[in-house]
Amino acid sequence: MSTLKALILSGGKGTRLRPITYTSAKQLIPVANKPILFYVLENIIDAGIKDIGIIISPETGEEIKRAVGSAGAWGVNIQYVLQDEPRGLAHAVKVARPFLAGSPFVMYLGDNLVGDKLNTYIEVFYKDKADAVILLKAVKDPTAFGVAEVAEDGRILTLVEKPKEPRSNLALVGVYIFSPSIHTAIDRLRPSARGELEITDAIQELLNSGCIVKARVLEKWWLDTGKKDDILSANTVVLDEYAKLDVKGRVDKLSQVSGRVVIGKGTEVLNSKIRGPALIGENVKIHNSFIGPFSSIGNHCSIVNSAIEHCVILENVQIEDIERVEDSLIGRHAKVHKNNSDHKALRMTLGDNSVIEV
Ligand code: DAU
Repeated sequence: MSTLKALILSGGKGTRLRPITYTSAKQLIPVANKPILFYVLENIIDAGIKDIGIIISPETGEEIKRAVGSAGAWGVNIQYVLQDEPRGLAHAVKVARPFLAGSPFVMYLGDNLVGDKLNTYIEVFYKDKADAVILLKAVKDPTAFGVAEVAEDGRILTLVEKPKEPRSNLALVGVYIFSPSIHTAIDRLRPSARGELEITDAIQELLNSGCIVKARVLEKWWLDTGKKDDILSANTVVLDEYAKLDVKGRVDKLSQVSGRVVIGKGTEVLNSKIRGPALIGENVKIHNSFIGPFSSIGNHCSIVNSAIEHCVILENVQIEDIERVEDSLIGRHAKVHKNNSDHKALRMTLGDNSVIEV
């Protein structure tokens, strides 16, 4: 059999993460200061896969190429596949058919983070001579996902995309392994009610035609980073798991750093408290401020006379004289300043779809 390839889906429009996704691809939003897509690439490369296709859209494709390209040598073969319109996950596979060229492949959604390595699941795929291996995870609200109904003996009974009345709490994780039989199944699909070719329907089609589909419940965590709170949870989980004390910048004597805190090169912490796990990028200025646990602050930010907790702050953000910012996702070059006049009115310049809670 030909060697296993990987297909990463990094197209789409990211509407649930506007306004951030008006100017940037959602797969490039950083978690612990590293783009989500890089975790995906690392996991695939770690499994020994050498041929990787990345689905891109006309809107954000160039940005994805630049980010992946500038991150240095990945030591693998990366090919970009343009999908003109986000017409569904199965449509993306169709567009990538020339790249896949009859090989089995891991399909990985570029906005999914999983704690598990892929090797165990790849073994299941080969050992059971499966046409598909799907990964499942119990979730609170299955209506937002593809949902699997599984019999007691482990057999998959039905797969339904975003059902109104889910038959189980087992969601389909955005990582799949397919044999080339998936192409025949996709060819038989019709667009769903939301007008997309659904990969969930294609896997149901495999089941209907008697192909071998295996399901495994993911052992560790899984985060689908579709919305703001998902990004904050992902940041919390990743910092909790990986942050180690590493101070490269300058911390003055009046400051206190406690717990697992990463402080990048050229960063200056003056008269401030930082409580880990927290990650502060390079060339950041932190003066007279408090940075609380589970915060990631991008390069070139400036935080002055303010308190930040449980936030993901992208690059070049300025925050000044703000008593407390928590549970927030702040996009590049945003400025949050106190209005120093006596009256309490808010003065704002907000992009479309911005959200503020006062
Ligand atoms: O996250 C897991 C869920 O992902 C599964 O439980 C669902 O069964 C599956 O359909 C999918 O649902 P989402 O609604 O979350 O998919 P989303 O539209 O967010 O797209 C997932 C990724 O694929 C994202 O990185 C964008 C990319 N994409 C999406 C579409 C529709 C493409 O590259 N092309 C597309 O046409």
